Amino acid sequence: MKKVFVKSYGCQMNVYDAERMADALAAKGYVEARTAEDADLVILNTCHIREKAAEKVYSELGRLREMKKERATEGRQTQVVVAGCVAQAEGGEIVRRAPVVDLVVGPQSYHRLPELLAEASARPGFVDTEFPAEDKFDHLPAPAREKIRARGVSAFLTVQEGCDKFCTFCVVPYTRGAEVSRPVAKILAEAERLAGAGVREITVIGQNVNAYHGEGPDGRDWTLGMLLERLAEVPGLARLRYTTSHPRDMDETLIAAHRDLPALMPYLHLPVQAGSDAILAAMNRRHTGDEYRRIIDAVRKARPDIALSSDFIVGFPGESDADFEATMRLVADIGFASAYSFKYSPRPGTPAAEMEGQVPEPVKAERLARLQAALDEDRRAFNAATVGRTVDVLIERPGRHAGQLAGKSPYLQAVQLETEGLTVGDIVPVEIVGAAPNSLFGRLAAGPPEERASAA
Ligand code: 5AD
Ligand code: SF4
Repeated sequence: MKKVFVKSYGCQMNVYDAERMADALAAKGYVEARTAEDADLVILNTCHIREKAAEKVYSELGRLREMKKERATEGRQTQVVVAGCVAQAEGGEIVRRAPVVDLVVGPQSYHRLPELLAEASARPGFVDTEFPAEDKFDHLPAPAREKIRARGVSAFLTVQEGCDKFCTFCVVPYTRGAEVSRPVAKILAEAERLAGAGVREITVIGQNVNAYHGEGPDGRDWTLGMLLERLAEVPGLARLRYTTSHPRDMDETLIAAHRDLPALMPYLHLPVQAGSDAILAAMNRRHTGDEYRRIIDAVRKARPDIALSSDFIVGFPGESDADFEATMRLVADIGFASAYSFKYSPRPGTPAAEMEGQVPEPVKAERLARLQAALDEDRRAFNAATVGRTVDVLIERPGRHAGQLAGKSPYLQAVQLETEGLTVGDIVPVEIVGAAPNSLFGRLAAGPPEERASAA
């Protein structure tokens, strides 16, 4: 029996893709290993978004080269595959830099993985980064029920891939290609299969998920809001989330979904990147800081308790002190429950990498530290405000200590609780009694969560 280990870097799309690759290989008799050391086939599912992420691949390949060499002396074979966005972006360059690699495969060819591996056995260093005409989703086998359940009660479901926005800093339009939405019927079938196997929460994912415009059963293009409304009807599914969104695509149907669908969790990850209009324009974001504020106002009107999250880039080319202060002001105005922030990293082939006014590293570092301190404080404040409230928690796994369970609040906060008689997949009211930087502590509550109680 052959064993495969997939190591994923980067975004949730890669987590989803890693599972699909494992499924494609399971159909050919591969079982999943927990470590590279235990595997005959090692797949690095890579991320190209920032230089740091991309460089990690090469250090990992160095380690695998030693492992492969050592095994070869024992007569044992190892296949090494580079998949994901670095594969797509660098292609054959990877094999030239790291001859340990047997196969380079881009995200649009995962359904062909078994045959590509056979090809690579005969011709090590094989590269496939085509964007084939057929839909890979039609050719990727569905996982077995037990496998779905073993992966947990919260699952990702890709509904859209690629991006047509062309933010000037971003590689995604190049690595993942043009925007493509899957038809509603196929998404529903996948959601029903997941729910049927015990999945309680689905996070609908796409590089630009709220630009979703897949074909509906009525032959018209459906929006993400319409899709979520339909998904909310799938028996067994209790929670829906979606990520990642673009401010330009927060349409009325999606905002209405936040108002009307109890299953749609009160959490929105809406990257803004920067607060200065000049920088937003140079980033080709096609919205201003105030337009972003107005979108947030509308979302908060629809769902007052919503937890907001965002992505930020500091030190984009041309960013002055005043521009950066505009970012700090936006952060102060909105009050994010969580956020990711990065130093601008010039990416080959993107317009911003060629722009004048590249910001020196120490300036980026200082701005990032200031921004992160502010975001951290807001996150703590948001968590602290949850203490004393009763919220529904989806139990996801055993906790850190014996007798503990770990789950998630509607606001995507990690919650630990000590209790007996609950199983993974239960959704129970929990009174939050304490907050640490990265998780909340709670105890089973006697009554329903307050937002339900007050709505009744
Ligand atoms: N440099 C730094 N951060 C980047 N991101 C995307 N491209 C870059 C880059 N070149 C960040 C953005 C995006 C998140 C996924 O990664 O904030 O929203
Ligand atoms: Fe990284 Fe973007 Fe690829 Fe996700 S889609 S793995 S964030 S480069």
